[in-house]
Amino acid sequence: MADDKENKKIGLKTTLDMVVEGCRLPVKMSILPNEEEEWPLAEILSRKEEKGKLEFYVHYIDFNKRLDEWVLPDRLRVEELQFPKKDQKTPQKQNSSAANSRPTTPDRELQDKKTTVDRSESDSPSPSLLSKKLSLPEQSSPAAKLGGQGQTPQSQTKSNAGRKRKAIFLDEDSQDAPATPQPSAPPQQPRQTGSMSSSHDENIITRIKNMETIELGKYRIKPWYFSPYPPELTTISIVYICEFCLKYVKSRKCLERHRTKCTLRHPPGNEIYRKSTISFFEIDGRKNKMYSQNLCLLAKLFLDHKTLYYDTDPFLFYVMTEYDIKGFHIVGFFSKEKESTEDYNVACILTLPPYQRKGYGKLLIEFSYELSKFEGKTGSPEKPLSDLGLLSYRSYWSQTILEILVNLKPENGERPQITINEICELTSIRKEDVISTLQHLNLINYYKGQYIITLSQESIDTHNRAMAKRKIRIDAKCLHWTPKDWAKRGKW
Ligand code: ACO
Ligand code: ZN
Repeated sequence: MADDKENKKIGLKTTLDMVVEGCRLPVKMSILPNEEEEWPLAEILSRKEEKGKLEFYVHYIDFNKRLDEWVLPDRLRVEELQFPKKDQKTPQKQNSSAANSRPTTPDRELQDKKTTVDRSESDSPSPSLLSKKLSLPEQSSPAAKLGGQGQTPQSQTKSNAGRKRKAIFLDEDSQDAPATPQPSAPPQQPRQTGSMSSSHDENIITRIKNMETIELGKYRIKPWYFSPYPPELTTISIVYICEFCLKYVKSRKCLERHRTKCTLRHPPGNEIYRKSTISFFEIDGRKNKMYSQNLCLLAKLFLDHKTLYYDTDPFLFYVMTEYDIKGFHIVGFFSKEKESTEDYNVACILTLPPYQRKGYGKLLIEFSYELSKFEGKTGSPEKPLSDLGLLSYRSYWSQTILEILVNLKPENGERPQITINEICELTSIRKEDVISTLQHLNLINYYKGQYIITLSQESIDTHNRAMAKRKIRIDAKCLHWTPKDWAKRGKW
């Protein structure tokens, strides 16, 4: 009997020895999205043994990388172990999201000509009298457009906009000046826009979360992804971050000492918007380098598909805060290139986890388009979008476009008319995004030789209900900002 037990133990030990990097097997997930996926297939990314305790770092194949975690052997179904196939690679589906989350771009652009919006039942493909239709011009068929196009061709960067970026690696003691990049610094990408450039990082170090918990103001937050904080901070359980200047320290004591010296009660830069308790601060990545770098480091903890660069000079950072008696607390931010050859109006966008799913993401997006309206331009977020980024943008685009369509008034008893270009001008949403949103909403129909948009009463009601929930909105009157022409200024 004792022998049997011993043999089983040896058997288990041998099997666990075989569980190495690249193997796949079902693993019990700690956060269960639904019962059926209790034991999803996972890939072993790493293993460690500390004080006789064996642990495995796993990536759940069909889930976002933020759910990756260290697990004990009892959560592995070792009897179903699959050894790595020669050319097997962890799908980048969830972490790079480039392939599956980019909105489709039409193969051929729809021509922008005015057509009528019909309200009569006889002309409508929908039987509903209440349905609103909006005509789209005859061009390519929707089917032809759905295939989508790859990313826009890499434009040859001129002037400052295409300058090479270096990776951030900061010393704790010298947060004013970036230290020499470490050997594990993310590789330079061929296309480098964004204070964090899009990354398809295969480096095993950067695929493993390196920080356990951060404390920021009144919140303790569990990071989602790797961020290149100094290695000595990755071995401690809580890293303390000053919520106003974003300096990071290794203990509460250090933070308290820091707070006696740090006088900030709001982000640096200019407050360019204030309504009620919400403010936006514009921070120049060149003038406030340390803050901008610390902001990038913090953001990287929740942004997976971006690589960090420590040349923050080409960027402006728009930090959204919520005010209370203690100060202006950071809620989220987006970064924006001073000059974007692709007309991106957002490089990276983030709502800090304690504030997520409360409408702040959409508020940040709305603000970014408000800036574009002031600039008299259309804009689009830098690609690829993350899974949550795509959800938020889709939702914002849909609501913004529907708001316009629903409020269209008939002219002289005629059917209301609008062109795609007019929607772009009114919203500053780029044409491709307007078209992909209309397609995604399945509003485009082909009828009697032309493209029309049909809005059923049901979709109008759904839209009105969603808008009623959007309590906080950007009020353009509260924005005090003049766009700068960075190309003319000669330097950032
Ligand atoms: N699951 C399902 N839906 C979600 C989730 C979620 N976890 N999070 C947001 N959504 C949906 C919401 O339901 C909402 O849609 P709805 O109003 O139609 O229901 C929409 O997304 C926006 O929700 P908000 O509350 O306004 O957005 P939030 O404050 O949560 O911020 C953001 C969204 C910024 C994407 C946030 O999730 C985040 O910071 N994520 C980590 C960083 C990231 O991925 N950034 C985007 C990268 S792409 C780029 O940088 C260009
Ligand atoms: Zn501080």
